[in-house]
Amino acid sequence: MTEIMAAWLKTKRESKSFFWRKAFLIIDSLQKTFENHENSRHLEKAMNMPVKALLKKIQKETLRSRYFGIPAIKSPMDFWIYMEIVNEIKPDIIIEIGNAWGGMLLAFAHMLDHIGNGRVIGVDIDHSKIPLVVKAHHRISLLEGDACGSFVRVKDLILPHHRVLIIEDSSHTYENTLNILRTYNSLVSKGSYFIIEDSIINHGLIFRNGFHSGGPHEAIEAFIKENNDFVIDRTMERFLITWNPKGYLRKIG
Ligand SMILES: C[S@@+](CC[C@H](N)C(=O)[O-])C[C@H]1O[C@@H](n2cnc3c(N)ncnc32)[C@H](O)[C@@H]1O
Repeated sequence: MTEIMAAWLKTKRESKSFFWRKAFLIIDSLQKTFENHENSRHLEKAMNMPVKALLKKIQKETLRSRYFGIPAIKSPMDFWIYMEIVNEIKPDIIIEIGNAWGGMLLAFAHMLDHIGNGRVIGVDIDHSKIPLVVKAHHRISLLEGDACGSFVRVKDLILPHHRVLIIEDSSHTYENTLNILRTYNSLVSKGSYFIIEDSIINHGLIFRNGFHSGGPHEAIEAFIKENNDFVIDRTMERFLITWNPKGYLRKIG
């Protein structure tokens, strides 16, 4: 806030006018309510929390989430949807682009263990954080390198009859997301999904830096306009709270 504006507000706050006294009473109580919501740690005390504040809270906790001790940066509600998709599609190949510590690679491998078939391919520019328990899992293959630059190596691991599911969770810039959509879409099997993560950026959660020219949400919209083989499946957003609004793309063509 500029100094001039702060000085102006100060004169109004000290003003004896009924209007300004009442206005500041309302502003202060609203601010207090918001701060209380921000600090509410339990549902029964946060029933009127604005969804925006709730999303911020879930984001903070999601960044600390672990899958059997390994960081897995996933909102629990999307995680559940992924489990349902894996069970429905029963993919032979799951490609996760952007792996970080590999918690989700292990989670996908365990889902496939339960189904009794399938492999997980992890692509990331840096696999140095991935622990041995993930690297050693017999269903997991890791390819280190830029996602689009690694496309041919990924394609070489896939046979024509394989059912393929792809999850993109890398840099989230508009350009990279759109490039990945354009490069990898041919690998997704008909009926399966290309999931684009974190389209919540500036569509639910405000990110001030780095996304001025758009992010995953805008990349999805551009891709859907140019590619008729995919539709946005909003039934996958049935919990309402998702980090991937419009991000569940189902291949129909
Ligand atoms: C948000 S993290 C992935 C989190 C992981 N999917 C999970 O659920 O726990 C993003 C990852 O993308 C990787 N990354 C960023 N740009 C990339 C690119 N162009 N190609 C491949 N990986 C990239 C980063 O190294 C980082 O590990």
